[in-house]
Amino acid sequence: MEQQRKRMLSGIKPTGKLTLGNYIGAIKQFISYQDEYELLVFIADLHALTLPIDPKELRENTKNLISIYLACGLDPEKVILFKQSDVHEHAELGYVMTCNSNMGELSRMTQYKDKTAKISNKESIPTGIFIYPALMAADILLYDPDYVPVGIDQKQHVELTRDLALKFNSHYSETFKLPEPVIAKTGAKIASLSNPTKKMSKSESDKGTIYLLDDVNISRKKIMSAVTDSDSIVKYDLENKPGISNLLTIASSLSKKSIEEIENEFVGKGYGEFKKYVADIVVDELSLLQQKVKEIQESGIIDKVLAAGAEKASYLARKKLNKVYTKIGLRKR
Ligand code: TYM
Repeated sequence: MEQQRKRMLSGIKPTGKLTLGNYIGAIKQFISYQDEYELLVFIADLHALTLPIDPKELRENTKNLISIYLACGLDPEKVILFKQSDVHEHAELGYVMTCNSNMGELSRMTQYKDKTAKISNKESIPTGIFIYPALMAADILLYDPDYVPVGIDQKQHVELTRDLALKFNSHYSETFKLPEPVIAKTGAKIASLSNPTKKMSKSESDKGTIYLLDDVNISRKKIMSAVTDSDSIVKYDLENKPGISNLLTIASSLSKKSIEEIENEFVGKGYGEFKKYVADIVVDELSLLQQKVKEIQESGIIDKVLAAGAEKASYLARKKLNKVYTKIGLRKR
C-alpha cells in the first residue's frame, strides 16, 4: 500500500513588497518540498489587514505574490495554492482560536512586543496585531499539516499554534494534529544589508532590504554598499562578521555552492570583489524571476489558479470546521 504523504502548509502575507528574506526563508523552501509533500501554500491576505493598508495596494500585492509563487516554480497541479479570504473558514476558526487563547499567551509573542514597542500611544495599538497569531493558528489547524515551513521569526507562532491545539484537544477531545515548524538550515533569517544584526523586513523600507520586484540595479547598489566589517576576510562568523555572514548565506542559498566553497573561492580577495559576486548572483536570479512574473501576469492564469485552489482548500477546511463546530456545541451531534 502506498504510504500517505505528509502534509505541509505555509503562507505569506501580502503587505509591502516581498523581500529577498521571504524568498530565501520561505518561497524557496516551498518549491523544494512540493514533490515530496502534500503542500498547501496560501496568500495570507486577512493578515494584511492587521495594519492599515490601502485597498489598491492590497490588490496589487496579492497579484504580485501569487505571480511570484508561480514564477518561482510552485506548480498548481501539485500544490494547493489559494487566497486565505477565499476560504471563509479561516476567519471562522480564527475567531474560535481567539476565544481559545488568553491575553498572556498573545502578549508574550515577540513579534507583537517588537511591533508595538514602537507605538508610543498604547491605546492606539491595532487589535489585529494582538490577535493575529490566533488567526495564524487557525490557518494551520484547519488543514492538519504535519509541518509548517517558516523563517525563524514565525517559529514562536507555530509553537503557540501547538499550544492552542493541545488546549483545544484536551478540552474537547482529539481534534487537531500538532504541527511542527520547519526552519531552513541556511537562510531562515536573512538580515538587513544596512543593519545585519536585524531581520530583512518588508515593513521597513530602507537600503538594507532587497525587494524582489524592484529594479535590479537598485538591488545591486544596495548589495555593493552592504555594511560589513573592518577586516577583509570572507568568512562565516555570525557574531563578529554578521554582514559578511549574511552575504555568504544569500549567495549560498541562491547558488548550488556551500558557504565553505564560497569562502574558499575568496581566500586572499577583498570585500569589493566578494560583494560584486553576491550582487551578480542576486541580480541574475531576480532578473529571471521578474521576467517570469511578467509572463504570468500577461498570461491571465492567475484567477483560474486561485479559483481552483480555493475550491480544493475549501473542501478540506469545511470538513474540519464542521467537526470543530460540532465539538464546541454550535452544531447538533
Ligand atoms: P510574513 O509574510 O511576514 O513572512 C512570510 C515568510 O517569510 C519568512 N521571512 C523570512 N525568512 C528569512 N529571513 C527573513 N528576513 C524573513 N522575513 C520573513 C517568514 O518567517 C515567513 O515564513 N504570519 C505569517 C504568515 C502566515 C503563516 C500562516 C505562515 C499566516 N498564516 C500559517 C505559516 C502558516 C507572516 O506574517 O509571515
